Amino acid sequence: PRHFAIVPAAGSGTRMGADKPKQYLPLLGRPLIHHALATLCAAPDIDRVYVVLSVGDAEWMRHDWSALGPKLVPLFCGGPSRADSVLAGLRAISGEAAQSDWVLVHDAARPCLAPWHIDKLVRELAHDEVGGLLAVPVADTLKQADGHRRVAATVPRDRLWQAQTPQMFRYVMLRRALESAHGVTDEASAIEAAGLHPRLIEGDATNLKVTFPLDLHLAEWILQNRER
Ligand code: C5P
Repeated sequence: PRHFAIVPAAGSGTRMGADKPKQYLPLLGRPLIHHALATLCAAPDIDRVYVVLSVGDAEWMRHDWSALGPKLVPLFCGGPSRADSVLAGLRAISGEAAQSDWVLVHDAARPCLAPWHIDKLVRELAHDEVGGLLAVPVADTLKQADGHRRVAATVPRDRLWQAQTPQMFRYVMLRRALESAHGVTDEASAIEAAGLHPRLIEGDATNLKVTFPLDLHLAEWILQNRER
């Protein structure tokens, strides 16, 4: 089977408080999204990289993506939610992808994706029935709040993981799951709603999601200090 990457990048990134969507914020002289796209395009296992942009995205054209090579294909079909954007991407490539091909969905907002993250995910899931996702064990003690910001319970963390991306599933399974799921914030939840159990593949904290301004500084530090 082949491996297609889908990168939803149709969000507005309002939590960053910036004047443009966070996927285009400058990070080491390039748009934030450039970094993950470059890593995906350079991965020998990945056959094509589809980036799902919002329908009227004018910013995409303002940058030069040619260094990323022919694997990169922009799709201007993003939807109102992340899941809608991913589903629109899956529909757009239906002529290209066979049922058993793998799809790796990766957030545009995770610029520090490393080659080893992709290698490990693809290798460990190659013969899996369901698929899975990169994740890290939770380090903090977690509190569940009542309606008044008082602690109602301490949630045991020994089996809790933080979900990351890429999340890797077979084309047909993922498409069916997303078509029947509602309000999911990642692909794995859609697969779970279909009664299946995605595998957790341990990644690391460097694959952070840029959500708040501090994350941009952390991402910059991680990229600059990485051995290439
Ligand atoms: O906002 P959040 O960080 O959860 O977004 C995760 C990813 O989903 C980002 O890459 C964002 O661009 C993408 N997204 C999208 N379409 C939306 C909302 C978010 O592609 N409507």
